Amino acid sequence: MTNKFSFGAPVFTGAVVEKFSLCKSEFPVGKIESEWPFTWNYNLEKTDIVFGLGESVRGMNKRGFKYVSWCLDCPNQSENTPSMYGAHNFLLVFGKNPFGIFFDTASRIEFDIGWTDQDVMTVKTEDTGVEVYVIFPSDNAKNVLTDITRQFRALIGQSYIPPRWAFGYQQSRWGYKTEADVREVVRKYRELNIPLDSVVLDIDYMTDYMDFTVDKEKFSDLKGLSAELKKDGMHLIPIIDAGVKVKEGYDVYEEGVKNGYFATKEDGTPYAAGVWPGRSHFTDFFNPQAREWFGSKYKILTDQGIEGFWNDMNEPAMFYSDDSLKEAFDKLESYKGKNLDIQTFFEFTPISGSTFNQLEDYKRFYHRVPGSSNPDEKIRHDKIHNLYGAWMTRAAGEGLEKISPDKRMLIYSRASAIGAHRYGGIWTGDNASTWSHLLQEIKMLPGVNMCGFLYSGADIGGFGDSTSRDLLMRWLALGDFTPLMRNHSAWNTRLQECYSFKNPEEFKSIIDLRYALLPYIYSEFVKAAVNGDSYIRPLAFDYPNDRRAVCTEDELMVGSDILLAPVYTQNAEGRYVYLPEDMTMVTWSDSRAEQKPMSAGDHFVEIPLETVVFFVKKGRAVPLFKSALSSEQIDMNSAYLVGDAKSCELYTDDGYSRKINLNEGMREIK
Ligand code: GLC
Repeated sequence: MTNKFSFGAPVFTGAVVEKFSLCKSEFPVGKIESEWPFTWNYNLEKTDIVFGLGESVRGMNKRGFKYVSWCLDCPNQSENTPSMYGAHNFLLVFGKNPFGIFFDTASRIEFDIGWTDQDVMTVKTEDTGVEVYVIFPSDNAKNVLTDITRQFRALIGQSYIPPRWAFGYQQSRWGYKTEADVREVVRKYRELNIPLDSVVLDIDYMTDYMDFTVDKEKFSDLKGLSAELKKDGMHLIPIIDAGVKVKEGYDVYEEGVKNGYFATKEDGTPYAAGVWPGRSHFTDFFNPQAREWFGSKYKILTDQGIEGFWNDMNEPAMFYSDDSLKEAFDKLESYKGKNLDIQTFFEFTPISGSTFNQLEDYKRFYHRVPGSSNPDEKIRHDKIHNLYGAWMTRAAGEGLEKISPDKRMLIYSRASAIGAHRYGGIWTGDNASTWSHLLQEIKMLPGVNMCGFLYSGADIGGFGDSTSRDLLMRWLALGDFTPLMRNHSAWNTRLQECYSFKNPEEFKSIIDLRYALLPYIYSEFVKAAVNGDSYIRPLAFDYPNDRRAVCTEDELMVGSDILLAPVYTQNAEGRYVYLPEDMTMVTWSDSRAEQKPMSAGDHFVEIPLETVVFFVKKGRAVPLFKSALSSEQIDMNSAYLVGDAKSCELYTDDGYSRKINLNEGMREIK
């Protein structure tokens, strides 16, 4: 049962697809301390667990920290980073009185979940208003967490389903500068028989970082390259950034200015801020014509055979604005010739970095009011900042649907808000090559899934800093199970492709598992998307009456049948695993699976670096297929089962049609 309430003056966000009339009765949980600005308090019972908040740091249980939804480019993230790239304002309180609560707002919003007071949760918004949906379990709910999640997902609409090839392994790096670099990556993977489905193109493929251009000197024939790779079952996935370079003669810039498609300053002229190409304008995705225009530009690349994209820097990231740059230079100037003492030196050093993603800059430009039919009605960016990246994904999703009405296209984005989950997936931004970020991903993915972003994953191996061989292997072992499986790293780090390390056959074995599992992963993903379930969940969803399972923070449920206990510490020879029931342990080594029955309880499980271990639930089976070099080449008749059941159901389809029919696609595997 869902109750809807409204406070202040909410702006249309596009998050919700189901219509509810406003509930007239009193707010059913906690206390509204203030309607405007909105403040809600809820007293937590000692044993209440608070799940949700999507892309955010800390635990699966969000208690004990203060989070702020404010889409932010945060390359130096740590466990103390309050804001990440997404605004995922859904919580699921699991305890004596379980309920889900979604704060549908364009505004910045704070979640103090037992930080100021361990037993009190306080949620506050600024600026615009909020529509709050409180979801209670249905009367006959067998499993309250699943039930609330399904109701929530019905409210926000079905999650995006990418084409099947998008579940293959993707190799990326900021630094593949030429066609030859791409060919080299492909050649090395193929030479070593390590499966690969995609090579991801970062900003270097463009001319001067200009969206929808291809640098002809570096990529003389993108169409030819794309066709050549496709013959071998591989795809290219180019990046599209939010900022459009300010440059006379550049058609995208000129069309945008001529038609008034860019966000503007108070005086109505386009707003400029610095990103990779220098001064750039930002498409006003809340203007329907501008959105359609930007979405139609993807055709420039689809015409060259491209079928997948990643949208980046769309919080939007702004290195500086004309104003903030001037202010910084003026300030720097004022220190010239001074004797910098302790006080002044500490003031002086941060000045050059002070222009980065500034709130002051976000207050300097305006958009069309989202959902409004009045082109003259404007709203200041900071009031709807959290929607910007989401609406860019919408522009891409809608554009690609027009360009390719029958065939699904791949799209994933860095910034997001609930609502964008219907148009694309996400990757979780610029992490680093640290063991703590590997663990962070384990804890983050269940929340991300609950909020509808099923197609998701982190940069495997870590984006910033240099990885180590063992970190990459352990991370790939987790990546085997995440829908987006992408190895990506920054230009100034050690090379991170599997062939850059010794004994690449050990990497091959780990990635072979992904391909052995791929039809199952695809099947479970589509089922979860259609049914409103989470493809990756905390154990609490499957074992709600087992307190040990409910409180487990470093194991995951994957699909309907798998329990995963990833290794996330260096030099570990294995780890302790808690099994809530008897299960089958599957050990994957040297591209082969071995099975062993395990009893419920605690076990120390040996997991050598080159192996991957997962557990199949009691009474279930998971099909493994003969691994192949690309998703397209998997022999669908090669399945064998692991687990203690004699058969299982698998959903299959052509892998690209937009129409999905679960019943039609189900078949039994024995
Ligand atoms: C941003 C992205 C990163 C990308 C880089 C260059 O930092 O998050 O993935 O490699 O920009 O485009």
